[in-house]
Amino acid sequence: MDKQLAGRTVFITGSGGVLGSTYVRRMLAAGARVVSSDLPGHRADALKAVHEGNANFRFYDLDVADESQVEGIFQRIMADGWEPNVVLNNAAITGEMLMGAGKSFPDFADTSVADFEKTMRVNLTGAFMIARQMDRDIIGKYPATLINVASMYALNGAHHPIYDGMPFKNFSAYGVTKAGIHGLTVWLAGYWAKRKATVNTIAPGAVFNNHSEEFQRRVGELIMAGRMCEPDEIADAMLFLASAQSGYMTGQMVNVDGGFSAW
Ligand SMILES: NC(=O)c1ccc[n+]([C@@H]2O[C@H](COP(=O)([O-])OP(=O)(O)OC[C@H]3O[C@@H](n4cnc5c(N)ncnc54)[C@H](O)[C@@H]3O)[C@@H](O)[C@H]2O)c1
Repeated sequence: MDKQLAGRTVFITGSGGVLGSTYVRRMLAAGARVVSSDLPGHRADALKAVHEGNANFRFYDLDVADESQVEGIFQRIMADGWEPNVVLNNAAITGEMLMGAGKSFPDFADTSVADFEKTMRVNLTGAFMIARQMDRDIIGKYPATLINVASMYALNGAHHPIYDGMPFKNFSAYGVTKAGIHGLTVWLAGYWAKRKATVNTIAPGAVFNNHSEEFQRRVGELIMAGRMCEPDEIADAMLFLASAQSGYMTGQMVNVDGGFSAW
């Protein structure tokens, strides 16, 4: 039997992060060609170090907030001989990323317009620009699918008390952009349907990444499953969405959140 992603060429933004690097590993194992991209830096370097020898792996520097870089990305990939038929809008400014960069989390009243707009630019405008470039370079030429990444905090509010005394918080622009990205999904689903393209949203739940026991306990109480999830548990659903088996799905949001959104 063919591997689940045989014949799929997957293009991923922000692929050096906690989830992105898991998708790359799992997709390669499932038989895909994987075109990774991320900002230059330690996350990208670590990913390249793991997969560089794999003939089914390529890496491109890409800042999704940079319009001219996004406008050129599919042409660059195609000029190198691969045609992405799965695109994953995964890059985002996340709490994990801000904490790793030693950035503070101001109270809502002190949140600057510049920080809010920067998050909008990366998480939402970046996803729009990738989708627009798919429309220009791919859609209608061959069947394709786009997967937009939201969050359990897209359609549900953040539970602010769980962040009391923690070194990080949930920030307003994050939830706003994650709600917005599903708007892009449903708008595009109908717009692309006649050109043999599908688009869906995945909404991951709380992924464990060395959080303290106290934080795990607080989050666990909000989740039917009673615990945070492992990155591979999100990848299981992501692989399905990236595969031919999701071909009759479009315009949907898939919640992989241990029941958080279902209470
Ligand atoms: N980890 C979670 O608990 C969780 C939960 C729900 C949703 N998500 C979503 O899943 C996706 C991946 O999250 P993660 O946990 O791997 O986060 P992460 O912070 O580990 O990774 C995000 C990646 O995006 C990249 N990135 C940031 N700005 C960029 C830009 N301008 N251009 C290109 N790349 C850029 C970063 O370099 C990083 O590699 C994100 O969209 C996130 O919002 C994560």
